[in-house]
Amino acid sequence: MNNRCTFAIISHPDAGKTTITEKLLWFGQVIRQTGMVKSKSGTFAKSDWMELEKQRGISVTSSVMSFPFKDRQMHLLDTPGHQDFSEDTYRTLTAVESVLMMIDSAKGVESQTIKLMDVCRLRDTPIVTFMNKFDRDSLDPFELIDNIEKVLSIQCVPMNWPIGDGVDFKGLYDILNEQIIIFKDPELGSDPTTPDVLDASDLNAEEIINFLGDEHLEKLTNDLEMIKELICPFCPEEYLAGIQTPVFFGSALYNFGVNQALDFLALKAPGPSAKKVRLAPFELDSKTRVVEPTEKKFSGFIFKIQANMDKRHRDRIAFMRICSGIFKRGQKIFHVRSGKDIKIPTPIIFQAQDREITETALPGDIIGLYDNGKYQIGDTFSEGEKIKFTGIPSFAPEIFNKVLLKDPLKAKALDKGLLQLSEEGTVQLFVRHTTSEKILGAVGMLQFEVVKFRLENEYNVNGAYESYPFIGVYWLQFDNEVDQAKFISTNASNILFDNKKRICFSVRSQWDLKLVMEKNPHVRFFNNSDYMGH
Ligand code: G4P
Repeated sequence: MNNRCTFAIISHPDAGKTTITEKLLWFGQVIRQTGMVKSKSGTFAKSDWMELEKQRGISVTSSVMSFPFKDRQMHLLDTPGHQDFSEDTYRTLTAVESVLMMIDSAKGVESQTIKLMDVCRLRDTPIVTFMNKFDRDSLDPFELIDNIEKVLSIQCVPMNWPIGDGVDFKGLYDILNEQIIIFKDPELGSDPTTPDVLDASDLNAEEIINFLGDEHLEKLTNDLEMIKELICPFCPEEYLAGIQTPVFFGSALYNFGVNQALDFLALKAPGPSAKKVRLAPFELDSKTRVVEPTEKKFSGFIFKIQANMDKRHRDRIAFMRICSGIFKRGQKIFHVRSGKDIKIPTPIIFQAQDREITETALPGDIIGLYDNGKYQIGDTFSEGEKIKFTGIPSFAPEIFNKVLLKDPLKAKALDKGLLQLSEEGTVQLFVRHTTSEKILGAVGMLQFEVVKFRLENEYNVNGAYESYPFIGVYWLQFDNEVDQAKFISTNASNILFDNKKRICFSVRSQWDLKLVMEKNPHVRFFNNSDYMGH
């Protein structure tokens, strides 16, 4: 049986995603030491690849980390928490089967969690919840559960229960095993893999009374009764359907409660699932089918491209999610978009910052392909079948910028940098039909900052950035070429081409858009590029 567990962590910025990532890698024995992430000590979680992330303390791009745990091969795909990079997160979520959601227990559900949850909903992705930072003052656990159920519309099932919080945090009650896990600072010598526990099957045992004291004992007894009365028991099917979320309380910073969540993932999180593909010619009305992970023939798709992960190598890596069959090193695979067979001599797998060549890969695995510009996000690979995995769209950008070069001799380097960054999905690149100007489109301002930073650092291009007065972009589809030519000539100043040369309409005001739609009832307007199966 395939033992892959491919999952992502989602959270609002600062809820503790980087911190828990580091602890998971520690449990997976990928790293030996866990420092205080991004802390005063100057150490960083191994998942923070890019310099900009370190400087700004934000996680910009998703990274892939693999480690064995129990009898599963875990693949953790990190996602940027900042909403300006939500497109990147969306694409990453197409490549996972389940999600670990971090909540800051002092704050409850925050804005970005709601957005990310919406994305998970699109695919009914199973979610495990981690209520983080109980070593600090937190909201009441029932209030937190109520908050999640109301705001995120998902049923919570606590798997453990906090006893106290902040300076008064005593530990966790493990509901299934009826034991108390005692909270201790690992810095003081306790081992997170074998925490101190007390048998709590009888809450009136002397040892428990002595440990908890009257106040905690009374609250815990009442809380457990309420849980029994009010909360449905855990149901694996409902978890897999994304209806129920098992909830773990703890503190990522103190590596407390993390192993319980990881144990759960290893035991219950789903393995590789079936995925929908569109058949050639990949139009909106083209036939679809479902690719089962158990199919003999190999298939996979690229969900992410990242350049210059290691500045010494100046390389570009395309991340491929294997969906069916077995991928073998050196085997020729069919690159559907170009129609060519491609040999992959050095497929790599990732372990935090390290990478190594792999001989084979199975459904659920993520492999990296060295890329000299051949690949694009959304590219499908097969053993000859003309299929395309669906649901990896480009979303319509909402803000636009033009780059003005300070040194005209850098025009070539700028073109190269912009093309590569757009192919990676860092930003969207459009060319104006009338002026051939290059316009950058983004969902959030931080994306432009990343472009600026990377153009300067990786391509040695200094530019000034000027905002452009568009408020949106629509991808267009026409019934025939005559209609298309006519539309382009009457709306020339609004026409853009994206980096795949698809025709787009730039919107300057909602009024303009309404007018042009009314005048052209046969033209179809799409606010993401999914209409072509891209
Ligand atoms: P993110 O990736 O989701 O953005 O969050 P990250 O892990 O970077 O955590 C954000 C801050 O919260 C970090 O502090 C981190 O140490 C802290 N943190 C994470 N988990 C816990 C926890 O369980 N308990 C406590 N007390 N803190 C936690 P920082 O960057 O050093 O900022 P600050 O603490 O100096 O403000």
